[in-house]
Amino acid sequence: MGLVEGSDVTASRKLDHIKMVVSSSVESLESDLFEYVRLIHNPLPEMDLDDVDLSVEFCFTGKRLRYPLMITGMTGGHPDVAWINGELASLAEEYGIAFGVGSQRAAIEDPRVSNTYSIAREKAPNAVIVANIGAPQISREYGVKEAKRAVEMVKADALAIHLNPGQEAFQDEGDPYYSNVLEGIKDIADRLDVPVIVKETGTGIPYEVVKELRAIGVKCIDVSGLGGTNWIKVEVLRSKTRYGEARKPAGPLSDYWGNPTAISIIEARLAAPDSFIIGSGGIRNGLEAVKAIALGADIAGIALPVLRALLNGGKASAKRLIEGIIYQVKAAAFMTSSKRLYDLWKAPLVIHGRLLDELSVRSLNPHTYIYRVRTEALMWRMRNE
Ligand SMILES: Cc1cc2nc3c(=O)[nH]c(=O)nc-3n(C[C@H](O)[C@H](O)[C@H](O)COP(=O)(O)O)c2cc1C
Repeated sequence: MGLVEGSDVTASRKLDHIKMVVSSSVESLESDLFEYVRLIHNPLPEMDLDDVDLSVEFCFTGKRLRYPLMITGMTGGHPDVAWINGELASLAEEYGIAFGVGSQRAAIEDPRVSNTYSIAREKAPNAVIVANIGAPQISREYGVKEAKRAVEMVKADALAIHLNPGQEAFQDEGDPYYSNVLEGIKDIADRLDVPVIVKETGTGIPYEVVKELRAIGVKCIDVSGLGGTNWIKVEVLRSKTRYGEARKPAGPLSDYWGNPTAISIIEARLAAPDSFIIGSGGIRNGLEAVKAIALGADIAGIALPVLRALLNGGKASAKRLIEGIIYQVKAAAFMTSSKRLYDLWKAPLVIHGRLLDELSVRSLNPHTYIYRVRTEALMWRMRNE
């Protein structure tokens, strides 16, 4: 299939990205800081494992997930990747978890590749599906019309707007345009029929930005913090592969720039106690997922490991990964005596080491956080459930 000029570049870049992240080391050396969180084990939970029910409403949509997990947006836009969106969406349908398609810019530029995204809804008629557009496009060209097209394309339950200034700064043909984005997001959030989720792409969202977003009416945040897939690293590697050396060398920024996931979750919850928070970025197993939730996220999000499992080991391997994570989260809920998802916000936990230091430097009192902020958030949630 021939693609129109412009979208051709966007689409083939998406293909480069998939090949690169599956075969190369693209995760930050920096940690997500979950190793500085310990949930207190309760050897006497006074309940059965089967009593655990972690179902949750997704992001004020009225639709419920069976498990508090999302496969966050990765792909679409090239004919060779349509099947990936189809398979990931069918996993979401099977397990009752949420699924996001990747940036829909390619199909907004060339509707002939719309099917590489809409296949997700075909394969997952009931699942929560999240559409995706990027902030740089909102800065320059996209408005409510394009946002609505993205939502309609996949019959989405919500629209994710991704923030990726690091990636745009280091991509050879990047679009580092971030002027007037807040105003553009507000316009879209005000006029769209589905909720807007503002998400990062692996470098985290701090307290100050969550406050700004909450002030313009955004109530869903995917923190996508540092500690997992790192887009500065991917773009530097891609440039090296093409030109022998990176055109925009990143130095230590490709491993150490960003807000680690654990601290991003805490800061987001503190800034927006009434919001829906997706804790993601570097989550690789059920223990990290349950820590993300206990720290104040509503659900955990995961991207790269699911893609790698699917591409390297087929659907059976992706299923094993998801089933393992779900079971680990359930077992951890059992061992903290948490029958329901939001009981995890009452679970006692310890924050120590570097995470404790960082919170203190940011003038956040971890004790207040653990006992007051999570309780406040719990009260908001109970009023809305
Ligand atoms: C191959 C790949 C493509 C991605 N493309 C997008 C995208 O188009 N839009 C977006 O919002 N995030 C995109 N992401 C970012 C992920 O949604 C996620 O925020 C990030 O990878 C961190 O999660 P992880 O460490 O579990 O991979 C992509 C990630 C991967 C691995």
